[in-house]
Parts: sequence; structure tokens; C-alpha cells
Amino acid sequence: MRLHPVIPMVVRTLTRPATIGGHRLPAGATVGPSILLVHASPENHPDPDAFRPERFLGQNPPTNTWIPFGGGVRRCIGAGFSIMEGVAVLREVFAAVDVRTLGSDVPKVRNITSVPRDGARVRISRSASIDR
Ligand code: HEM
Repeated sequence: MRLHPVIPMVVRTLTRPATIGGHRLPAGATVGPSILLVHASPENHPDPDAFRPERFLGQNPPTNTWIPFGGGVRRCIGAGFSIMEGVAVLREVFAAVDVRTLGSDVPKVRNITSVPRDGARVRISRSASIDR
């Protein structure tokens, strides 16, 4: 969700003038906070290209450094449910089998979401940690 966020950016329309990134913008301007850039910033995530999910163990990421569900009053209403569902499913899957990705993880745009360009092909094998 950090390296390949489902939605690359959100969009807001300014209701009053604001200065963002040093640019003075008028009311009515459309701004697009980039989830991709926030997640790829080495200031937010050292060695940002590395897939190292354990970097989040024992601590929540600081505010506005991990925003796959957007932010503010329009943040995704399904965020809590999605996290709960993802953890429940992945816990069961990884407890039972080892999963290895096959091929590239290059994304492509599908409607407004980002999906694996060549599909999400994986190889599944019986978990070495389980005696069946
Ligand atoms: C991994 C799963 C999901 C991801 C990554 C995701 C991501 C997002 C993002 C980035 C936004 C835009 C937020 C913003 O503008 O700041 C959004 C909005 C929204 N999401 Fe999700 N979403 C997920 C699952 C769900 C689910 C399961 C539901 C419904 C049960 C849901 C319902 C909505 C709704 C209704 C909005 C619009 C909220 C508004 O504009 O006030 N999403 N989501």
C-alpha cells in the first residue's frame, strides 16, 4: 500500500486562497496531493524504493507520511474495514502457505485505480513452518 498505492493521488478544490509549496493559489483552484510522491519521499521513508514492510513494526507512521486512504474530512470511509479485512485474510493465507510473486510489479492505470500491469501472478507452496 506504500509502494503501490491503489489510488495515486486525491483531488481537492480550494474554497479560499492558499499558499501550497510556495505557490499562491486562488479559491477554485484544483490541487492534487500525490499519494505516490508522499510514499516515495526519502524524508518520509528512508530507502524508499525498498519493500521492507517491517519498517512499520512497533510504530505508526508519522501523520501524513502514509496516506493510501487519502486524508482529512474526505478520507476513505472504508479504510478501517479494509485494513481489518486485509490483515484477517493475509494472516490466514500466510499461516497456511508461502507466497512468492512472479514477474514484474510494474503498475498500470485501470479507471482511477492502479493495478499490476501483467496481473498479480504468484507461486504458492506449502508453508515450511507448518507440519501437516
Ligand atoms: C485497500 C482498499 C481501499 C483503498 C486503498 C481506498 C482508497 C481511497 C482513497 C485514496 C480515497 C480518496 C480519499 C481522499 O480524497 O482523501 C477513497 C475514498 C473513498 N472510499 Fe476508499 N479505499 C479502499 C477501500 C474502500 C472500501 C472497502 C470502501 C467502502 C466500504 C471505500 C469507500 C470509499 C468512499 C465512499 C470514498 C469517498 C469518501 C469521500 O469522498 O468522502 N473504500 N478511498
